[in-house]
Amino acid sequence: MKILVTGGTGFIGSHTVVELQNRGYQVVIVDNLSNSDAKIVDSIEKITGTRPTLEVFDLVDREKTADFFKRHNDLKGIIHFAAFKAVGESVQFPLKYYRNNLDSLVNILEAMKENNIPNFVFSSSCTVYGQPEELPVSEKAPIQKAESPYGNTKQISEEIITDTVKVTDIHAIALRYFNPIGAHESALIGELPIGVPNNLVPFITQTAIGLRQQLSVFGEDYHTHDGTAVRDYIHVVDLAKAHVVAIDRMVNHKMKKPLEIFNLGTGIGYSVLDVINAFEKVSGLKLNYKIVARREGDIEKVWANPDFSNRELGWKADRNLEEMVDSAWKWEQAFRGKTIKPE
Ligand code: WQD
Repeated sequence: MKILVTGGTGFIGSHTVVELQNRGYQVVIVDNLSNSDAKIVDSIEKITGTRPTLEVFDLVDREKTADFFKRHNDLKGIIHFAAFKAVGESVQFPLKYYRNNLDSLVNILEAMKENNIPNFVFSSSCTVYGQPEELPVSEKAPIQKAESPYGNTKQISEEIITDTVKVTDIHAIALRYFNPIGAHESALIGELPIGVPNNLVPFITQTAIGLRQQLSVFGEDYHTHDGTAVRDYIHVVDLAKAHVVAIDRMVNHKMKKPLEIFNLGTGIGYSVLDVINAFEKVSGLKLNYKIVARREGDIEKVWANPDFSNRELGWKADRNLEEMVDSAWKWEQAFRGKTIKPE
C-alpha cells in the first residue's frame, strides 16, 4: 500500500518514513527541502534497504499539488508533516506561516477529495492547549487561544479538517505531539535545525560538540520542582511508530468516527535542568550553561495524559529520557564526524 509523507525529509517525517517502510508500506515523499536535505533519502535507504520516492515541489502550489495527486491516485493514505514550525519566527512573519501552513493543507484536502483518497494523518501539536489549567492534559482539555501564529495555524488546521470530514469521505487522525527529541539508533538520521537551534535538545548537543558557546536556560522562576520549565519529551522513534499505528488503524477501518484526536506524549514531565542532568549523565560531560530570563511566549509546564492513545491506539511511548538524550548525542557526534570523550 502506497502512503504519501509530506515533509518526509524532515526530523519527524524521516523517522516516520523509516517505520512505515519497516512495516512494509510503499512511501512517496513530497518535500520542498526548505528546512531539510534530499540526502536524508540515502540515509533512509541505508537504514531500511528501501529507497522512498522523493518528489520536490511546494504544496502551496495548487496546480503542482493537483497534478501530483492525479499521478498518484492509488495512494491509501497521507501523513502531512510539511509545515513551518518555529514559534519565534512565526511571530515575526505571520503571513508566511498562514500562507504556507494553511494553503498547503487546503490544497491537499481538495486533491484528496478529487481523487477519492480516504485517509489523512495530521501532524498537530500540544501547543493547541496553551498553558493547560489541569495537568496531565487529555484530549478533552479546552483549546486555548494560541500564543503564536504557528500555534494558531495548528488550531485552524484542525478546524479545517473537522469541517472537511463532515462533508466528504475523508477520515482524519490528528496527532498532538508533545516535545519530540532524540534520533534513530543508527545515528544516520536525527534533528538537524538550520541555523541557530530554537529547541532545547539540539542546542544542548551543539553546545557539547563545540558549535555553540553556551546554552541559555530560559528562566528559573517557574512554579516547578526546580524552577525551570517542564515539558513532556518523547522519543522521535516512539512518535514515528504512533503514525504507523494510525495508518494501520485507518487502512483496516478501525476508526470509530471520521475525526479522531490523540495526544502523543509519555505522560512524564521533565524540567530543563532534568534534561541537562540526563545529558551530563549519558555523555559524561559538564555542559556549559547559564540561567537567563524567561523566553517570551513559553508556557510554564505541560505533560500529557496518554491514556486514550495507549488504550484506543494500542500505542505507548517506551523510551526514557536518558535514551532520548543519548540518541540525540550519538546523532550529533556522527553527523559532525567528531567524538567527544569525557575528561
Ligand atoms: C523546551 C524548553 C524552553 C531552548 C516548541 C513548539 C512545539 C514543538 C517543539 C514544533 C522550554 C527551554 C529551549 C533553549 C531553553 N515544535 N529552552 N533554552 O518551546 O516547548 O515547543 O518546540 O512542533 O510546537 O512550541 O520546545 O525545545 O523550544 O523548549 O531553556 O536554548 O526548553 O524555555 O522550557 P517548546 P523547546
